[in-house]
Amino acid sequence: MIDESRSGVSPDEGAFRQVEARLHRYGQGHVLRWWSELGEEQRRSLLGQIQRIDFDQLLQLYKAYSRRGETASTAADDVRPPSSIIGLPRGRSEQAEWDRAVRRGWELLEAGRVAAVVVAGGQGTRLKFRHPKGLFPIGPVSGCSLFQLFAEQVLARSRRAGRPIPYLIMTSEATHEETVQFFESHDFFGLLRDNVRFFRQGQMPVVDAATGRLLLESKDRIATSPDGHGGLIAALARSGLLDWLAQHGIDLLFYHHVDNPCVKVCDPTFLGFHAMHDAEMSLKVVEKAYPEEKMGVVVERDGKTQIIEYIDLPPEMAGERDDRGRLRLWAGSPGIHVFSRFFLERLARQGHGLPFHAALKTVAYVDERGRRVEPAEPNAVKFERFIFDALPLAERVVVVETDRGQEFHPIKNCKQDDTTPDTPEAAREALSTNWRRWLLAVGAQCEDVVTVEISPLVALEPEDLRGIVQPGATCSEALLLRPDPAECRGFDHRSSEPGGRQGRG
Ligand code: UTP
Repeated sequence: MIDESRSGVSPDEGAFRQVEARLHRYGQGHVLRWWSELGEEQRRSLLGQIQRIDFDQLLQLYKAYSRRGETASTAADDVRPPSSIIGLPRGRSEQAEWDRAVRRGWELLEAGRVAAVVVAGGQGTRLKFRHPKGLFPIGPVSGCSLFQLFAEQVLARSRRAGRPIPYLIMTSEATHEETVQFFESHDFFGLLRDNVRFFRQGQMPVVDAATGRLLLESKDRIATSPDGHGGLIAALARSGLLDWLAQHGIDLLFYHHVDNPCVKVCDPTFLGFHAMHDAEMSLKVVEKAYPEEKMGVVVERDGKTQIIEYIDLPPEMAGERDDRGRLRLWAGSPGIHVFSRFFLERLARQGHGLPFHAALKTVAYVDERGRRVEPAEPNAVKFERFIFDALPLAERVVVVETDRGQEFHPIKNCKQDDTTPDTPEAAREALSTNWRRWLLAVGAQCEDVVTVEISPLVALEPEDLRGIVQPGATCSEALLLRPDPAECRGFDHRSSEPGGRQGRG
């Protein structure tokens, strides 16, 4: 296995020998197979990559995977729906509580105590988009990106609160450069450059599912994948951002995924409930659409609120219904949370990297003959941490129900298939439907066929349209409302009515 041509080579002979011995101890010597063909820089980079791998951890993780496979079994009797949920307001007293929460949320925003974080390090394999998911064009009329929609929400809320809301963006090796460049080339979508903080999550080596051996992505690189959205806590601590938040007096972090264009970034009501209950971690829940839906479910187990990932939920349990025909485990997690900074700091201090989960995936690699192989079937194991594994570690958790139609339409697949209906078309339609409802709510007339897009800089909620859209205004084509009249379509700013002269295009 060891090629003589490796001897006497730089970089540092001693370091090389150490690495080589370590690799052999763990049965991973094959990763140096192409050493003799590599240039100086490639050797240095490969060596560095190997030195960063925790082989003991990897071995343990692979052993656990081989024993259990992908899924952990979940016993039916120890899992129940969460007993304490703040449901959507149905009566007057509940509405009063929600109103109180909104006010509290705005107070927090006005006091500058809130930042938002988007986890945007995923590889988005199912979407088959060649760029980071945040760059995906989602605006139903303008084709604006997911990042633009989120950044404009942050900007609009900051303006309203009279305080900047920092926006933290977690990237990975796969998404970092392009994401930073995208924000730069769009002038940070109007946000203060200093308040947009990019930080990278960790990477984990990818191993062959049958043998546990490291896969080579190329002759000089071990295949790796981002360490899951649960890599957030370690990445925040490592990047110094937890300290940065503390220095800026920020003690709440609103968390969201990059692939849900309907998320209400820094939703004041949600922030308010979190603070009113002095929670360490809060989560929104939506009603699961069907038993096989690929989303985590929020449950109570061992007296603690937890999320079970869909692959860990046995189908018979996922399909159980109550007397009214509703799914027993109905509370799906759209991946929208609030964290208290103290909680994140505590976890980081305790070295809580959160546990790793194994997933069987299809990963291209270079084989022993140096050829690139694109497997048709899953061949590799990736290891990921899930952010919701922080839940049982939190002392106080708040669960808030939210309207699925308004707030959750993730983009997962490029086209609809048997496994998920979560396509870009479905998300665009949902956005448009929601915005159309906003127009109707302020008295405009808008047919179902009209595609509508309203920039968050124009309105964050229907009420904001009062005074902009006159009651009785009609619209019959694609309608785009942006703060700059020149960018609008189907809307005449002078008459403040949809359907005006600028309406073509
Ligand atoms: P998903 O679990 O849906 O993964 O991510 P994905 O990478 O977007 O898509 P597939 O599964 O490869 O098709 C949910 C959220 O978690 C983020 C994603 O960017 C998305 O916002 N995420 C996921 C990370 O930030 N890092 C990761 O390592 C994994």
